[in-house]
Amino acid sequence: MTSRERFLAACACEKLDRPPVWVMRQAGRYLPEYRALKAKSSFLQMVRTPALAAEVTLQPLKRFALDAAILFSDILVIPEALGQNYHFRDEGGIGMEYRLETRAQIDALAPIDAVPDRLCYVADALALLKKELNGSHALLGFGGSPWTLASYMVEGGSSEEFERIKQLFYTERATFDALMDKLTGALIAYFKLQIEAGADAIQIFDSWGGIIAGPDYEAASLRWIRQIVAAFPPTFPIILYGKGTAPQLMDQAFSGVRAISVDWTNDLAIIRRELPDNIAVQGNLDPVLLNLTPDIVTREASRLLDSMRDTRGHIFNLGHGIMPHARIECMQALVDTVTGWK
Ligand code: CP3
Repeated sequence: MTSRERFLAACACEKLDRPPVWVMRQAGRYLPEYRALKAKSSFLQMVRTPALAAEVTLQPLKRFALDAAILFSDILVIPEALGQNYHFRDEGGIGMEYRLETRAQIDALAPIDAVPDRLCYVADALALLKKELNGSHALLGFGGSPWTLASYMVEGGSSEEFERIKQLFYTERATFDALMDKLTGALIAYFKLQIEAGADAIQIFDSWGGIIAGPDYEAASLRWIRQIVAAFPPTFPIILYGKGTAPQLMDQAFSGVRAISVDWTNDLAIIRRELPDNIAVQGNLDPVLLNLTPDIVTREASRLLDSMRDTRGHIFNLGHGIMPHARIECMQALVDTVTGWK
């Protein structure tokens, strides 16, 4: 069985001898070969140059026996394609070119039909990867949820308190909805482009889904995700990752997605028992463990695997992205533990 088949079988909740494994942010700063490439080209250049994006995507697969490749890109290419550029602040975090605050600014964003053209480099990178992988590994596309993207756009970058996006949501709902409508349309067009270019699955990152009050998660985030998911065939694997959305997992599971990616604060075996049998679960080792020692990673990954024994529909992953200070030996221990598990 190829890695790609294993991954798709897990998404379809078929019986497997071990779960497939991949890691959020598996191509990134903890890899010396990534840092070497980044010394020569900026992050944005790497993202926008298909040959470089494909090369970075494949870096972790050359080192580790991972089952899936995730396109090297960023969720912020969508605001950029709509006309709001992003950059990395010197002190860390994201800065957007301006703060999106008014209805007039929303109306001035690029039309949805401009998105596939402006992101054609993503299709080119995926097509290169599809050819290179030749069915060996699952190829994952991704995007941010409308809510998570809106938070960057309205806050003007990374935020601590999320006051502006909440102000928009609670005081100017029609304007908020207009922005979400735009982002929803843009994401549908973007995911279609990714699927046509060869993506086997799509992960939606609702990384800031946990910052909105529980009773408002539906109106702020999930209804827009549901609208995106409804634009694709029900069997196509869409994975939804939310951080801090434990109370919303059941609602997320009924959004039409095929898999729910859960953060490390959840007990995955309990989540597996609670969610419907036809919904796969992904996760959820604490990413910080990979900054510690291989022994700890082996011990804790084995515990997680044992807790999921005899269940179906598990994709092994971390509960959030691997950190820049993660140790290569720890990543190796993680992949060895999952692939050698009996
Ligand atoms: O998973 C992968 O390997 C694919 C690549 C990927 C990146 N970003 C590369 C990246 C993916 C899936 C993302 C998604 C993303 N980007 C999210 C959602 C996932 C999550 O972590 O919750 C978010 C919120 C972003 C926005 C973003 N981009 C942030 C907050 C940062 C870090 C900024 C900082 O202060 O360092 C980025 C940059 C980024 N995206 C890097 C990588 C490898 C680091 C860039 C570098 O080399 O400096």
